[in-house]
Amino acid sequence: MTKFKEILKKNIYSRDDIIYLISQSEHEQLLFEKAYEVKKKYVGTNVYFRGLIELSNICTRNCFYCGIRKGNKNIDRFQLSKEDIVEKAIWAYEAGYGSAVLQGGERSDPEFINFIENVLKLITHKTNGKAGITLSLGEQTEETYTRWLNAGAHRYLLRIESSNPDIYHNIHPDTDKFSSRIAALKLIQKCGYQTGTGVMIGLPQQTYADLADDILFFKENDIDMIGMGPFIPHHDTPMANAFDNFDQMAEEQLKLALRVIAVTRIIMKDINIASSTALQALDSKGRERGLLAGANIIMPNVTDTQYRKGYQLYDGKPGLDENCNSSRINLEKSIHNTGEKIGYNMLGDSPHFFERIKNK
Ligand code: 5AD
Repeated sequence: MTKFKEILKKNIYSRDDIIYLISQSEHEQLLFEKAYEVKKKYVGTNVYFRGLIELSNICTRNCFYCGIRKGNKNIDRFQLSKEDIVEKAIWAYEAGYGSAVLQGGERSDPEFINFIENVLKLITHKTNGKAGITLSLGEQTEETYTRWLNAGAHRYLLRIESSNPDIYHNIHPDTDKFSSRIAALKLIQKCGYQTGTGVMIGLPQQTYADLADDILFFKENDIDMIGMGPFIPHHDTPMANAFDNFDQMAEEQLKLALRVIAVTRIIMKDINIASSTALQALDSKGRERGLLAGANIIMPNVTDTQYRKGYQLYDGKPGLDENCNSSRINLEKSIHNTGEKIGYNMLGDSPHFFERIKNK
């Protein structure tokens, strides 16, 4: 106990300190409380909503963990129309959500690039440029990132999945290079986006030291936004049986993710951190627990119910029978129960982004 408390009191954590804090579940409540204090001081207790639009499950990649990987023949593929995406983005804007997130399987063919560019222009036009738009559409070229930025997107999420190249290569086909992932993330930052990344927590063979290095990677790369959550096996993927008895370890997996979120908050202080849906998949109160461990962003799904079944990245993804209205009502209730406020009609930008560009 004393060692845990001594470390928590420090202003700067060494790599060993981080490893220790992540590995000790016994005193984790103290860690969560400290992370919450830091969050209150640096970003406040407003929770910002991002309306998540899952625009397509068509994907050119074959990531071993992901339910919408190209090789999964057991799902029906869908692609929302331009009108549907724009309508959802406007719904999110009018509902007072700080921004919409356009997420989908990875494609880089010219037709797709044009399609997204047109969608962005339409959303920007219909909201007089006032709606925040975040993209989560994988690795693209500098030209594509720039075109999408000019069309109205201003934030981009690209998880590195793991900062350990060996783990990265273990969970991706040989054609996917860790170096390309990092290069893409740097391009996003260079183009001028508020830049988000993240990892999966609790991957096979991932150690506490790996997770500490993930956090140090975020810090070294001056990341503005983090979205990370527990790894959850999907039954139709090569990693379906990565663990013998995942159900029995689900709560531990969740708590590990919460500790990594908490340490990230204490170290990165003024960034935005999402309380991911994967937390909620392991516990119906997972996202609220994420907020109390230092996260300040929630991405309510605004995709129509009929498409949700087709976007199961992992097993047990919640909200399958909800629509955007019922998601909103359920979330409002549970967030108020945590004592936090919802930052309606605010963009809720990452304060870190402005510090970063000021110091350039
Ligand atoms: N478990 C947890 N997260 C997953 N993702 C994909 N598959 C899984 C899984 N099985 C995450 C990846 C990806 C994001 C969109 O979803 O980190 O970047």
